[in-house]
Amino acid sequence: MIVAPQQLADLSVGNRKSTPAVYTGVEPQKRTSAAPRTLARGSPGLAGTLLAMKAIVVTRLGGPEVLAVRDVPEPVIGAGQVGVRVLAGGLNFADIMTAQGGYPGTPPPPFVAGREFAGIEETTARRVMGYTQWSAFAQKTAARPELLWPVPENWSYEQAAAFPVNYFTAYFAYWEAGFLDEPSDRRRRRVLIHAVAGGVGTAAVQIGHILGAEIYGTSSSEDKLARTRELGLQHGINYKLHDYEQAINDLTGGEGVDAVFEMLGGEHTAKSIRCLRDFGKIVQYGTATGKQPHLDLRALYAKAAMVQGLWLTYLSGKRELMNQAWQQLSAWVREGRLNPVVGQVLGAERAGEAYQLLLERKNFGKVVLTIP
Ligand SMILES: NC(=O)c1ccc[n+]([C@@H]2O[C@H](COP(=O)([O-])OP(=O)(O)OC[C@H]3O[C@@H](n4cnc5c(N)ncnc54)[C@H](OP(=O)(O)O)[C@@H]3O)[C@@H](O)[C@H]2O)c1
Repeated sequence: MIVAPQQLADLSVGNRKSTPAVYTGVEPQKRTSAAPRTLARGSPGLAGTLLAMKAIVVTRLGGPEVLAVRDVPEPVIGAGQVGVRVLAGGLNFADIMTAQGGYPGTPPPPFVAGREFAGIEETTARRVMGYTQWSAFAQKTAARPELLWPVPENWSYEQAAAFPVNYFTAYFAYWEAGFLDEPSDRRRRRVLIHAVAGGVGTAAVQIGHILGAEIYGTSSSEDKLARTRELGLQHGINYKLHDYEQAINDLTGGEGVDAVFEMLGGEHTAKSIRCLRDFGKIVQYGTATGKQPHLDLRALYAKAAMVQGLWLTYLSGKRELMNQAWQQLSAWVREGRLNPVVGQVLGAERAGEAYQLLLERKNFGKVVLTIP
């Protein structure tokens, strides 16, 4: 049974009136015991009560102002799923696009926001971090066990919530760019990372450092570049002050880079192609400008260059690939070589502010929300 929004309109949490019509798509759970948090049905004729929880809800499509902490029914844990008590959620640029209605597969609002989380697996009490498409920013989420990973012992939940999207995406970017293969010559490979001080960017710097890459990165801020240099960035380019295409040309003696991790779209895709050296590759994994990537295939001829797409939503369905990635990532974690960069931690009630930080480019690394 799916609860329609209008069915939730008259529910209350304890003595407090719940907010109306905030939730779609998740079946409510029948109360089986005297649970402390319940949504009691208003009409005496309706059987059962619903377990209630707090969640950050996208109440309608729009900017940060559409986010609200609401009381919603707990998800029912279906076959092939496990329940996780969520304690922290990692904010992604994709969450902003999702709230705006610009992310493929987004359900109609109202729905629970968030695509990555850390917390406690209900059946085992294991500390876990996980990935989903939405519904992560709630006290409880229904998770797919193959997309849950154990939290390293010395990590906080905030750090763990900053891991899945950034590190799997950055890992697959290097994998697609061929940096995980043995080089055919002794030349040091060069990568240009856009938004190098952001979530995926800082993860890509840490992995690039492990792989021995020469790392070039763009950012709008000297302060963010300085902090990213401490992670292993060698060549920071402030794009507010310098044209990065010219800077790459100067810094590489006109040769260019082997790979660009491109998440801006619009003219930046074409510009990034011009930053490539022979046989180089653009890994296109986002369009933060909101613009279609400009792609002149003829520009690829001259350098025998390539463009390849990367979408974690799609790759996360490939179990073997994900397991291989985790094997390598978890080995680096055990060696202490990967440490999620958490720039800001905010309470759930400040979710709008957190989204605003990313929109205004004020984040460093990951913005994490704590879930009560
Ligand atoms: N394909 C996938 O599977 C996948 C997975 C994860 C992320 N992504 C994409 O990767 C990109 C980064 O995601 P993230 O979550 O790690 O975010 P983020 O990099 O932590 O934050 C966004 C950063 O992008 C930079 N930026 C440049 N142009 C911007 C613009 N027009 N509007 C806003 N920010 C702009 C800003 O840094 P500076 O001011 O330093 O430039 C900003 O801080 C996004 O485009 C996202 O959609 C894709």
